[in-house]
Amino acid sequence: MYVCLCQGVTDGHIRDAIYEGCCSYREVRVATGVASQCGKCACTAKQIVRETISDL
Ligand code: FES
Repeated sequence: MYVCLCQGVTDGHIRDAIYEGCCSYREVRVATGVASQCGKCACTAKQIVRETISDL
């Protein structure tokens, strides 16, 4: 599912960034570009990061 339409970032991209070493929302944002334009996706992106990190 697309989380960020501006940057074309999916929930899978966010999870992969975490599996590859990102350990915060900030790092995921830098790695994927999520929420770097309009910012509407920030809440959803943060939630996915939180859930993925807590499932590790
Ligand atoms: Fe993610 Fe616009 S939808 S920055």
